[in-house]
Amino acid sequence: MFQVDYDQIASVFDGNADRLDIAVDRVLARLLAGDPDARVLDAGCGTGNYTAVQQSVHAGGRWVGFDPSPNMLSIAREKVTAVLARAVVEEMPFPDNAFAYIAANFTFHHFQDKTAALDELARVCKRGGFLRIHNICPEKMEDWWVYQLFPAAMRMDEQRFWTVARLVDGLELRGLSVEVEIEVEEVKRPLADIHTQILNRDTSQIALLDADEYAAGLQRVERQLAAAPHADIIYHIAFLRCLAKK
Ligand SMILES: C[S@@+](CC[C@H](N)C(=O)[O-])C[C@H]1O[C@@H](n2cnc3c(N)ncnc32)[C@H](O)[C@@H]1O
Repeated sequence: MFQVDYDQIASVFDGNADRLDIAVDRVLARLLAGDPDARVLDAGCGTGNYTAVQQSVHAGGRWVGFDPSPNMLSIAREKVTAVLARAVVEEMPFPDNAFAYIAANFTFHHFQDKTAALDELARVCKRGGFLRIHNICPEKMEDWWVYQLFPAAMRMDEQRFWTVARLVDGLELRGLSVEVEIEVEEVKRPLADIHTQILNRDTSQIALLDADEYAAGLQRVERQLAAAPHADIIYHIAFLRCLAKK
């Protein structure tokens, strides 16, 4: 259900500058300072952006990444020094307790079987290790531009995402202790930028729309732009930062 074809999106994925704006991971920095041989996993690594940024600032770490999309992985191979595998989170080809740090960024809503995904992530995380889940947080951003322009996307996201409470429960049930931070930002952007992003269809919410829903939203934007070419759109975006310790 709701499977996005990332092989199709791979060539335009890094064209979205927001995706390259990745902070240095301070928890990982502390971990690697104490144990430079720690095994680090980028789960659903996509084109490797998180790993590439962290490897550019932190020494050490034995890095592994995986993703189901061969096209995303082949871009990652150009950027990172890591063992990269084609796999899904629900059946990871790694032994129990294999990793001291696992990052799953902007990928949890893509997991087809989230219960199996959490079982697997908890299984491969070693005792004392960390699981970091970062994502957008739809329940705190009902006026996101995507939802304003494509109401069907919001209905799909209600099914694709878990609420924060459900995610925390799922992690605690597996014996992890969880810290959560949610940051909400107000954003004002030129509608013309949004128009380009809609045409790229590189955002999964837009990639999943059927032809009629997509055409209706696109027309809505194009009508607004015809009337006011320099118009802005104002919306909120919320980020969930979840850190679980086993
Ligand atoms: C929005 S991209 C995020 C990529 C990367 N983590 C980042 O932050 O740039 C979502 C990624 O999840 C991957 N994905 C989809 N289903 C998955 C699954 N069942 N297990 C692991 N990764 C999956 C996709 O192939 C895609 O590369």
